[in-house]
Amino acid sequence: MSEGPRGSVLLTQAVKRLNEAGVPGAARDARRLLSHALGVAAGRLTLALPDPVTVAQAAAFHALVERRAAREPVSHLTGERMFYGRNFKVTADVLDPRPETEVLIEAALSQPIETILDLGTGSGCILLTLLAETIGSRGVGVDLSVEALQVAKDNAVALEVSARARIIRSHWFDEVEGLFDLIVSNPPYIADWELEDLAPEVREYEPRMALTDEADGLEAYRAIYAGAAPFLAPGGRLIVEIGHTQAEDVSKIAVDAGFAPVAILQDLDGKDRVIVSVCPENGL
Ligand SMILES: C[S@@+](CC[C@H](N)C(=O)[O-])C[C@H]1O[C@@H](n2cnc3c(N)ncnc32)[C@H](O)[C@@H]1O
Repeated sequence: MSEGPRGSVLLTQAVKRLNEAGVPGAARDARRLLSHALGVAAGRLTLALPDPVTVAQAAAFHALVERRAAREPVSHLTGERMFYGRNFKVTADVLDPRPETEVLIEAALSQPIETILDLGTGSGCILLTLLAETIGSRGVGVDLSVEALQVAKDNAVALEVSARARIIRSHWFDEVEGLFDLIVSNPPYIADWELEDLAPEVREYEPRMALTDEADGLEAYRAIYAGAAPFLAPGGRLIVEIGHTQAEDVSKIAVDAGFAPVAILQDLDGKDRVIVSVCPENGL
């Protein structure tokens, strides 16, 4: 095995390259990519930096850095993303799980849950996290994207919750059966005219169907609130993630559909991010 440069040298060069390419968080990303290329846990990278890497590792790292310089998301390069303390497989077919979505998880876990429906499950990060956090619960995750469903199924197996998860293809509620005490969704909520303002990582690499409804960014909420009541168990909750400017519009859609908004929750940046609602006609 031929010896290449030290990890610390590679890291310095990579940070410089990514900064020159205008990549935000260049140092953080370079470290994540180097950990991945060397096969060491992120927390142990500093210990490995003084050692020479192999020529093959250096070449693999260089290729990753060039792809990142072209603004490919880190999760696509490493194939994984941490969400609520668990590792999720991520591909170009699913939305990269976001830290903001953990607000929805916290809201969901604030009450006991037995049955969960996740609309637009993508990687499965919401449904599978809730199943992993609540012993004995079971749930259904739906998506229109066949490729995304496969990623969600793989994640269910990896997290050892597949026996409690049904992952099915459905346009929102179309193929869903049963009653749920929690319905959750992080639907596509970017308006078509907002797409051009997104970071290149998102606009060019994430699935378009995960980002936008090709309309005003509210179509999914209209469908979800209009269809949810027959699938909610008495006292059940509907919790959705929203774009940070959509609280008023989505609250109105909820009220018009007979729901009572219970809370609008903010993310760590103080932006409106999640709406919790209940359906009074459903036995509350
Ligand atoms: C914003 S992503 C959310 C993915 C994942 N739940 C998360 O939070 O990371 C929205 C998901 O909704 C799916 N989707 C879009 N339109 C849909 C529809 N009509 N019915 C079901 N799923 C849909 C997309 O394929 C995508 O996986």
